Amino acid sequence: MKSLIVYYSLEGNTEYAAKKIASEMGADILKIEPVKTYPNKGFRKFFWGGKSAVMAETPELKPYVFEADKYDRIIFGFPVWAGNVTPPIRTFVKENNLKGKQISAFACQSGSGAEKAFEKLKGVLGIEKLEAELVLIDPMNRPNEANEKKIRGFCARLE
Ligand SMILES: Cc1cc2nc3c(=O)[nH]c(=O)nc-3n(C[C@H](O)[C@H](O)[C@H](O)COP(=O)(O)O)c2cc1C
Repeated sequence: MKSLIVYYSLEGNTEYAAKKIASEMGADILKIEPVKTYPNKGFRKFFWGGKSAVMAETPELKPYVFEADKYDRIIFGFPVWAGNVTPPIRTFVKENNLKGKQISAFACQSGSGAEKAFEKLKGVLGIEKLEAELVLIDPMNRPNEANEKKIRGFCARLE
């Protein structure tokens, strides 16, 4: 099965995990970014990102190349924002036909909310179940063996 990791990362934690998963699985990787970047500091970061997530916005993305036919499986990676899936992921799902693909996801968070975010993601995708799910606590900022073990377990489930 050929897999593509599609991820958004504001501060690097999701990117860190995406690269690890890609090398462990031999998956391809696609970073998506909004045209209008979110603030990444202080109160503005939480205010604008949180608002955008709660409002279920679909911000315009910078141009990207997604060769849908090449992949059987899409693995979404995103930071949890206000207990929700990060808006650029919504845009990607809206813009692409993912029918027939296996869908997995991993979410990075500092506390809680990933389960709710997975529910939202399934809603956007119109599916009942994700093939595999992984929750990581700030894997770049707080490196630890528990995260590494969870990453290996997630990759093993998708072999
Ligand atoms: C706007 C915003 C909202 C957030 N909301 C949550 C949340 O609801 N629950 C949580 O545990 N972490 C929350 N966080 C923390 C991030 O999900 C967490 O630090 C994540 O690892 C960051 O990933 P990144 O470095 O790839 O951006 C939030 C961060 C931002 C910027």
